[in-house]
Order: sequence, then C-alpha cells, then structure tokens
Amino acid sequence: MTATQPGLVGRDQPIAELQALVAAALASRGGLVTLTGEAGIGKTTLAAAAADHAEALGATVVWGACWEGAPPFWPWLEVLAALGAEVDLQADGQGGDRLRPPSAAAARFERFAAISGALLAATGALVVVLDDLHWADPASVELAAFHARRVRRSRQLLVATYRDVEVAPGDPLAGPLSRLAAEGATLPLGGLDAGQVAVVLAGITGGDPDPELGAGVRRRTGGNPFLVHQVARLLAAHPDAATVPGGAREAIRRRLAALGDPCVRLLEAASVLGPDLRPAVLARMTGQPAGATLALLGEAAAARVLVGPAGELGPWRFAHDLFREVLYGQLDPAGRARLHLAAAEALEGLRDGGADVRPAELAGHYLRAADQAGSSRRRPRPGPWTAASRPPWPPRPSWPTRTRPATTGRRCPWPSGPGSRCRPSGGPGCWPGWARRCAARATPLAPARPSGRPSTWPGATRPARPWPGPPSACTPSGWSRAPTPPTWPACCGRR
Ligand SMILES: Nc1ncnc2c1ncn2[C@@H]1O[C@H](COP(=O)(O)OP(=O)(O)OP(=O)(O)O)[C@@H](O)[C@H]1O
Ligand SMILES: [Mg+2]
Repeated sequence: MTATQPGLVGRDQPIAELQALVAAALASRGGLVTLTGEAGIGKTTLAAAAADHAEALGATVVWGACWEGAPPFWPWLEVLAALGAEVDLQADGQGGDRLRPPSAAAARFERFAAISGALLAATGALVVVLDDLHWADPASVELAAFHARRVRRSRQLLVATYRDVEVAPGDPLAGPLSRLAAEGATLPLGGLDAGQVAVVLAGITGGDPDPELGAGVRRRTGGNPFLVHQVARLLAAHPDAATVPGGAREAIRRRLAALGDPCVRLLEAASVLGPDLRPAVLARMTGQPAGATLALLGEAAAARVLVGPAGELGPWRFAHDLFREVLYGQLDPAGRARLHLAAAEALEGLRDGGADVRPAELAGHYLRAADQAGSSRRRPRPGPWTAASRPPWPPRPSWPTRTRPATTGRRCPWPSGPGSRCRPSGGPGCWPGWARRCAARATPLAPARPSGRPSTWPGATRPARPWPGPPSACTPSGWSRAPTPPTWPACCGRR
C-alpha cells in the first residue's frame, strides 16, 4: 500500500497509520481502526488498500458490507460465511445460568460472544473489514465494539468505515458508533488538496496535471475524490461543461435529504446568494427571526453542508460549491426569480439601514430575477402565492399589475449604449422592477414625462435615492461562476 498505488492519490498520512496498524496486528497487537468521512471521500478505497497490504503480508481478509434494509447482523453473517464459520444465532440467553430467567441482554451477550469467539478461533492473521456501518443495525455495531475489545492480544485487525456526517445525534446508531470509535484509532478523511485533485483529473482526462484546473475543481468539490471523478469524467466528455454531473448530484441530494425541510428551504434561499452567506440577508429574505435563521444555519453546518464563519461576523459558506449548485438547480425558474428578487430587496433593506452593500451584488440579483422570470414566461410576483409555491415565510404585499412607466422616453441608466431608451413599462418585455430602478436614475430625454414612482408601487414611501448604477459591463462581481449568465433587462433595450 503506497501513495503511488494506481488510482490512489495522496493520503500519505492515513496510509502510514494503516500500515503501522497492520504491522502491529501481525505482531499479535491487534485492534480496531475506524475510517470516517462523507460519502465518496475514499473510506472504502483506503480500507481496500489496507486489506491488500495485509493480504500481501500473508493475512486473511474478509469483508462484511452493510446495506440499507438488510436483516440484523448482516455484515457479520457475511464475515462468518466468508470464514466458513458456523454460529447459532438463535441463542436465547439460557445457555449459562439456567436458574435465572432469560433476558434480552443475556441473549444478546451470548450471541456476541458466539460470533466474536468464532472469529477469534480463526487461525493466522485476519483482517475483517466492516464497510458502510452507517447502514448497519445498531446490534451489529455494538458487536463490532465488543469484538474490538477482544482482539487486542490477537493477530486480528478490525477495519470499520462509516459516513459520520450522515449519523445525526438522535440517530439510533449514534451511540453505538461513538462507542465503537472509542475502542480504537479513528482516521477522519478530508478532501484532497488542489495539487492532488489536479493529479486525479489528469489521470482521467489525460495530459499533465493543471494546477489552475485543480484549484478550480477543488473549490467546487471540496476535494471529495468521488466528486472529483464525476467532474473529471464530465470534463473528459465535454471540456467546456459547466454543470454538475448526475452522480455528484445524487451524492449531494442524499446529504441534503438528511436535513429538515425548513433547513433545506433556507439553503435554497441561500443558494441564490453566491458562495458567501450573511445571516442578516437570509433572515430578511425569509422573514424569519435572526435566532431561527442561525439555528437552521447551525443545522446545516452540523451536517457539514455549510461551514460556519471564521470570526464572529464573518460570512458562512457552502462546504462545497456543488451544494449550492445542486440547490439552485432544483429550483424552478419562477422560484429562482422570486428568491433573487427577495435577495435584492433584503440587500436594499440592509443598505437603507446603513449596511455596506455592493451595487454589483444588488444589480446581479435584479438581473437574474429578470432573466429567470423571462425563463418562466411570467413575471415573478411575490403574491398572491399559490399553494404549490407558498414560501415558508410570510409573503410580501402583492405588486401592482398595471403601472404607468416612469421611464418611458428616458435614457436608460444601464450601460446599454448611447441613446438607448427604456421600453414602456407594462409594454412587451419590460418589468416593473427594472422600470423602478431605471426611473430613479434615468436621464430625461426631451420631452420628459413626469418622473417619480407611482404611488401604488411598493417602496413608494421610501425617500428617493439615486440608483448607484450597475458595475462595469453590468456583470455581477464576487461570483466566480454564475449559475446562469446574466442577461440585459428587457427594459434597457440594448441596441
Ligand atoms: N485517494 C484517492 N485518489 C483517487 N481516487 C480516489 C481516492 N479515494 C477515493 N477515490 C475514488 O473516489 C471514489 C469514491 O471512493 P470510495 O468509494 O472509497 O468512497 P467512500 O468514502 O467509501 O464512499 P461511500 O461513503 O459512498 O461508501 C472511488 O471511485 C475511488 O476510486
Ligand atoms: Mg464506501
């Protein structure tokens, strides 16, 4: 087992520790090692590498794999079958002291002792790999902890793997798994670094490792080898591909499915904000109190979907950019438009309160809201909500559906070229949100129509303030990769 083993990149430290544990087991100092980490991080790959290494040194290797919905003790039954050992699993707890009434605990102990004893009776060095224990029944995990205590003076090594991030604190497996981990060494696996990602990519797409590409894919995948493989396969087939491959989506959906609905709704809202998430913006977008918003962010951070702020006031981030992409991708265009609009209005509200809000960020949300509203072939209206689209927070007051354009005949404030004019609001292609922005900044062309916001518009009571204008070329900055390319608002009629 070496870091240069085909297909295995990096992992020098865990490989060295596994080699040391195999050597100790072969010298009659057996034990347990637990490999933990999210789906696809490389637990089975490393367990297999350790098993191959032990086999090369003369040990027998047997695997017990866990499956969702498998019967109790399934991984152990596989191990026993591989060893050709026969154990009576119908023990009823009456085998020892027949004067005492049978108890469930006694029956369980007898069963544990019988299975563990059958393994200890094996001749020669033995490595037992229990894979995917997050799908095991609790008794199988308790048995692993029981057996781990008994192998310390044997030539046996128990290697267990499980996705720690998928076992929530209240899960029936949480206690047994933490008791198991306490019986031996634990190797938590994190993502590969950018250089290692570049090597994995080059191994699949061909050519030399590209550090820049490696850094970019590392950012999008967190260095998760499974996700890196998915992206690499996609890049190999479509070098200019920009979407998340299906396999990675499925892996991420499974992670998200473990979260509560309110948390997922909050993350969907967060997905329109880009990589940096500010709780104050999310609280305004969703109309939830700051405390509730922080609790949901904390839930996502506990599941390692988000990473909390480094400092007290720093931004939260998605653990992988792929999480954000998948969440954004599962919104329909109307939902995206609604959330971008909510984000823009939340940012405006914060700016009104004196917060530092980048005009580019604001412009980006209005652009995307207009773009997505166009995709859904209807205007995004915050209300009235239909039952299907009802958000988990109170709706904003409905917009007027008929407004007179304040921008008609005005020079468009957006950099759409000299002489461009806004189209009449309410006319084909225009959108009131844009007309409102344009109205605040447009340079009148003669003859100018009366300016100002119609009193029926939401926000009409707010003091007029000059629109700071879009950033250069109207491209939202701070987003390294836009989910959809921004388009020009129809009311700006680029010519
Ligand atoms: N260090 C590595 N270098 C290169 N590829 C790796 C590495 N680790 C894992 N892989 C690849 O990543 C993919 C996922 O690895 P693996 O199946 O071991 O993950 P896992 O943690 O066991 O996932 P799960 O929790 O779903 O069982 C495999 O295709 C594997 O070949
Ligand atoms: Mg695995």
